[in-house]
Amino acid sequence: MAYENIIVETKGHVGLITLNRPKALNALSQALIAELGKALDGFEADDDIGAIVLTGSEKAFAAGADIKEMASKTFTQCYLEDFITKGWEAVSKVRKPVIAAVAGYALGGGCEVAMMCDFILAADTAKFGQPEITLGVIPGAGGTQRLTRLVGKSKAMEMILTGRMMDAQEAERSGLVSRIVPAGELLEEALKVAERIASMGRPSVLAAKEAVERAYESTLAEGVRFERRLFHALFSTDDQKEGMAAFAEKRQPNFKNR
Ligand code: CAA
Repeated sequence: MAYENIIVETKGHVGLITLNRPKALNALSQALIAELGKALDGFEADDDIGAIVLTGSEKAFAAGADIKEMASKTFTQCYLEDFITKGWEAVSKVRKPVIAAVAGYALGGGCEVAMMCDFILAADTAKFGQPEITLGVIPGAGGTQRLTRLVGKSKAMEMILTGRMMDAQEAERSGLVSRIVPAGELLEEALKVAERIASMGRPSVLAAKEAVERAYESTLAEGVRFERRLFHALFSTDDQKEGMAAFAEKRQPNFKNR
């Protein structure tokens, strides 16, 4: 399919999606979100792809939902369209790991989409924020929930109530991003990390992602029980036999994703 708002490429076993609306700092229009969902579905269905990188430009990962597109919406329209939920959730529903490689602005919906990814690698130029309050609304794609879980109530509350941005250093200190890399090396590093993930056995990668996600949605006892069930189940895979045999034989494993 031809995309107008994103660029979709395959790099080895990694699916790379680049948000590409430079004139609007990658503002997340409904057309862009629909394309993003299609591209993610395509990579999800592609057996050769083991991980996905989502990135933007040097200046902006994404400056939020498209303000011009939503400015005149009424409550009824928002409600009937299930505005923001529809389409946007595609990112958080992907089973394969998705890495957000963020340079420049990740604001509003841009920050929310980055937080829907499994982790964020930030360029030293990255700036994160939830400025919706300055527009007379609040975050609408999970920002009040995901930012609070990631950085804690105090910092999330301050950012969401004032709309102030945090830079890459503060984002790393507070746990929003996994690591900072120099802007010029961001994409290369993200692809390297994604390729490493893609080289692992697929069953254990999907299980690991599912188990970590469960930490957000259950008690500790429930989460640990869930983890144990998956851990035991992985002993039924060829990849477990291969991974452990390779260790004993002092060689690299050759996972077959089964
Ligand atoms: N929606 C639509 N267009 C946007 C946009 C957005 N979110 N962000 C930037 N643009 C457009 C600008 O209107 C401008 O277009 P024109 O040249 O046609 O005027 C172009 O992108 C370049 O932007 P600026 O000239 O403003 O660039 P700057 O470098 O001076 O400022 C910025 C950069 C600080 C990111 C500023 O653009 C900005 O504040 N953007 C809006 C950020 C924002 O409020 N995001 C939240 C949106 S609401 C939301 O996301 C709801 C939700 O929870 C899902």
